[in-house]
Amino acid sequence: MPHFLAPHITLPPMPFTQEGYSFVYEAKQCNDSTQSLILVRYKDSEFFLRKAWRESKNNAILKCEKSTKTQPTGIMKNALKILCAYQKNIISHNLNNNTPRQNLQSPYLKSMEFFLDFAKPCLIEIGFGSGRHLLHLAQSNPHLICVGIEIHTPSIEQILRQVQLLDLKNLYIINGDARIFLEILPSHIAQGIYVHFPVPWNKKHHRRIFSPKFIQESLRVLDNGGMLALRSDDEVYFQDVLSLALQEKNISLEIHKNQQQAITSKYEARWTKQQKNIYDLKIFHTHKHTNNEKNVKNTQKTFYFDKILRKNLDNYKSFPHKKIANDWFLHIDNLYCAGDIYVLALCFGDFNQPQSKFLQIAFCDNISTRYIGHNPIPTQAAIKAHKYLMQILTQE
Ligand SMILES: C[S@@+](CC[C@H](N)C(=O)[O-])C[C@H]1O[C@@H](n2cnc3c(N)ncnc32)[C@H](O)[C@@H]1O
Repeated sequence: MPHFLAPHITLPPMPFTQEGYSFVYEAKQCNDSTQSLILVRYKDSEFFLRKAWRESKNNAILKCEKSTKTQPTGIMKNALKILCAYQKNIISHNLNNNTPRQNLQSPYLKSMEFFLDFAKPCLIEIGFGSGRHLLHLAQSNPHLICVGIEIHTPSIEQILRQVQLLDLKNLYIINGDARIFLEILPSHIAQGIYVHFPVPWNKKHHRRIFSPKFIQESLRVLDNGGMLALRSDDEVYFQDVLSLALQEKNISLEIHKNQQQAITSKYEARWTKQQKNIYDLKIFHTHKHTNNEKNVKNTQKTFYFDKILRKNLDNYKSFPHKKIANDWFLHIDNLYCAGDIYVLALCFGDFNQPQSKFLQIAFCDNISTRYIGHNPIPTQAAIKAHKYLMQILTQE
């Protein structure tokens, strides 16, 4: 993450604007004023920088706040450079230009929210890695939108370059966790969902892509006759997924061993060289949806903000900071203040795919409440956590 270190960090009075950047406020952590968040706006982006005194190292750091990260990274680096120039002494920094990650920008790189009301038939590949299979999918299905989702940023950079070189118009890429993505997709839009050589995580099942919930969400997202395809070299993983699939209704299954495919992915090439067996499990969705089912929305997609009472925030130390329910949780990690503006640092949602967000509440002329950057991804778990937070903040 871009940052600089200094013996002390001095900030100019805020708000101020320089080189197109607005430095809006510095909000101090309510129980430790050596930690603060600085809200910065640049064109359409909005993010926090974090200032922290590091007692053990006897120095201060100013860095990008990871959960409000904006692309390209150069936007945040420039904001740090502006503030770096106000310091008398600097110990070190990593603000030089031209790291490849600064260019993660393409019309084909989409946010998850882009797909909330997506209505076109599509094919989805989860964890596409080197992207060989996904590119093949897009090239051989020009009439369909293909969507690839990955958590590994270098793989995203690599495939976006290929999309440009091959001039593909039907391939969208998402940088994020596929388990969250499936949950927010509308029902019955996919003809195929491909998961090729996922990490088996045989000792940490909670990290696996396949779970009962994942299979159920995939079946919801698949259209009649659509297919969820697992290809794996790991027999334990394959058997586990088969057992999960057998618990579902309205499916038919197809199994193959060492079946050749038109394209060999990077991982497949590695395992074939080691003469490992390759297993295919294809789960077909056989249920015919009625029109009523087709119109059912997946989740409530909006976060409503009720009238928050300032006294509840002033009572921060005594209100519940942790709530753990069956299928969701909420952690209120910290409160920051800048005059009439309060910022809550939150972590919430599903246990295996938590989201970190900042909620800003401004008691100026009117009370205005919003999440910094974008709203959270509207999973069921995130919406439940949000509702609970509203209850705490609005109670008389
Ligand atoms: C073993 S690699 C396989 C890559 C590719 N499918 C192949 O066959 O060469 C697994 C890939 O899944 C990605 N991945 C793991 N968990 C993921 C998740 N929850 N959402 C999206 N991608 C994920 C990893 O970053 C990695 O690139």
